[in-house]
Amino acid sequence: MLKSVILAAGKGTRMKSETPKVLHTIFDKTLVGYVIEAVNNTGLADENFVVVGHQAEKVEEHVKKNYSNARTVLQSPQLGTGHAVSMVLPYLENFEGEVIVLCGDTPLITAETLKEFVEFHRKSSSDLTVMSAMFDNPANYGRIIRNSIGVESIVEEKDATVEQKAVKEINAGIYCLDWSKVKYAFSELKTNNAQGEYYLTDIIKWGNEKGLKVNAYTLKNNEEIFGINSKSNLAQAAKMLNRRIINKHLDAGVTVVDPDTTWISPETIIEQDTVIYPMTYIEGKNKIGKNCKIGPFAHLRGDVVLEDFVKVGNFVEVKKTTIKSNTNACHLSYIGDSEVGSNVNIGAGTITANYNPLTKEKSKTIIGNNVKIGSNSVLVAPVTIEEGANVGALSVITKDIPSWALAITRAPIKIVEDWVKKVLKG
Ligand code: UD1
Ligand code: CA
Repeated sequence: MLKSVILAAGKGTRMKSETPKVLHTIFDKTLVGYVIEAVNNTGLADENFVVVGHQAEKVEEHVKKNYSNARTVLQSPQLGTGHAVSMVLPYLENFEGEVIVLCGDTPLITAETLKEFVEFHRKSSSDLTVMSAMFDNPANYGRIIRNSIGVESIVEEKDATVEQKAVKEINAGIYCLDWSKVKYAFSELKTNNAQGEYYLTDIIKWGNEKGLKVNAYTLKNNEEIFGINSKSNLAQAAKMLNRRIINKHLDAGVTVVDPDTTWISPETIIEQDTVIYPMTYIEGKNKIGKNCKIGPFAHLRGDVVLEDFVKVGNFVEVKKTTIKSNTNACHLSYIGDSEVGSNVNIGAGTITANYNPLTKEKSKTIIGNNVKIGSNSVLVAPVTIEEGANVGALSVITKDIPSWALAITRAPIKIVEDWVKKVLKG
């Protein structure tokens, strides 16, 4: 089993935020969370070290709470990427396997790529493999300098000659190290460079000098190492991730009418022949069956299970709710903390009042099969509407309604004959 070291101590000044950079989220998952999960999903790693520095406590708390096989290691002060990796030395003194090094701010890296990267490292019997990528505009990245034998060194933009700056093969910032051989590099790194830092990139040259086998693996899809340095980058990455998810659904037989205005979280399962209409936002963990129609302008907020042939239409918000087959909620509703049966019609403007702001308690609404809820009704939870019952429009339901009953709470209609004529006559 290998170990990962995820660098996340940097300040992230350009985010202009009080939240540490790696704790910014896409679909509620943190940037560092995406990286840890990508490593875990390779199935190759048993332990992740997250190097923290800037706002260390916050990052540490998040990692501890959410990732049982990850631990944080403090780097203070932050003297460069090489110094950052050296922080794990005390924990891996006798470790014999591989260590992969990644950055905590590249959430689009995939488990498939990491697996291929490690396989490449193993197959080529490398001691040290760096991931590279070909960029038309390589500005700001370290450049991979090759010679006739292989990879010679990495030169940072700030230290590069004009010739080196022209190189389009860049350092993606991901490494695979045969730890028992490469661990000695960290005590030999120097700070004689433009930034006065301990550069992790110097281990390439060091490896060559020690006669180790050094290689580069070239990334196929550059998107995967897209790094987040600003809110603008965060928005771009979210779009890319969303597009990746939507493409998967399209390939699996889901119709997404307008991928540009539809958002679907990574943890949403959708079965084939379901249609997602424009301006729909689906977040959290959800399971949507076959032949459903969602949107336009629908909002699924997580923990939503829809069986087959369910309609969730315009301006309908659903949260923590199961809806059985053939049920429609077509317009302007809020359905939360509910269980809804099949063949139910939820009229326009129906609200499940699930939250008591005084006690801060949330309660459940249970709606049986074949129930019809009239428009503009409020179902005040906890409440059960039993099978087949009918709720008249504009009702406020505060008690359980038995099977097949009619419940109606609005004032009786009053008709005053010729009232308008009398008013007009004066
Ligand atoms: C680094 C590489 C560069 C590569 C690029 C890819 C070095 C010297 N350069 O440059 O070749 O093309 O990544 O993105 O490694 N960090 C720490 N502690 C530190 C310094 C940095 O944890 O003391 C973390 C940062 O939070 C960040 C990562 O390491 O997540 C990369 O650091 P950064 O300063 O952004 O390196 P680059 O200049 O981008
Ligand atoms: Ca960077």
